[in-house]
Amino acid sequence: MKKIAIFASGDGSNAEAIVKYFASNDNIKVEIVLSNRLSAGVHERMARLNIPSITFTKEDWQQSYKIIDKLNELSIDIIVLAGFLTIIQPPIIKAFIDRIINIHPSLLPRHGGAGMWGMNVHRSVLEVGDRESGITIHYVDESVDSGEIIAQYKCEVKNDDTPESLANRVHSLEHYYFPRVIEKILS
Ligand code: GRF
Repeated sequence: MKKIAIFASGDGSNAEAIVKYFASNDNIKVEIVLSNRLSAGVHERMARLNIPSITFTKEDWQQSYKIIDKLNELSIDIIVLAGFLTIIQPPIIKAFIDRIINIHPSLLPRHGGAGMWGMNVHRSVLEVGDRESGITIHYVDESVDSGEIIAQYKCEVKNDDTPESLANRVHSLEHYYFPRVIEKILS
């Protein structure tokens, strides 16, 4: 059995899509969700799906060995960042080298880096007039949005798009492809 730990700070729609995708898989499962925000929507979604979700403290995060111990105790194979808005501590990257992946809601390297999260990304795409956007799934290294790219999927940007309508289209791509790419990596 391959085990996934999802790190999430927000609403958790990707976490939910991943849990549902693997629900009937005997070889891959979401073992736990870790969050840095007690009020994150992801907790409610996980409670509904019977997946444990915990919030770690700032101190736990800074002394990352506690997080690493927890992940090792659970025999986690891969860390999946799904809307996780904190830089991963170097000891965690070292302990899980090539086993941490992230999803970004644009076609990196476009609209990536510091400050490029949430609606800022989609606003930036519309502001510069890109005709296409999409998602990037990549390995995580010590910089922001810079690890090796695993896969990218595109969607169109429509003339009358708002950041919200574009975000919805990009989210649909994420929910479909992210679980499938994780499955490929783990198989
Ligand atoms: C996604 O758009 C993802 O690309 C980005 O954060 C967002 C998380 O959305 N990293 P959700 O919390 O999974 O709904």
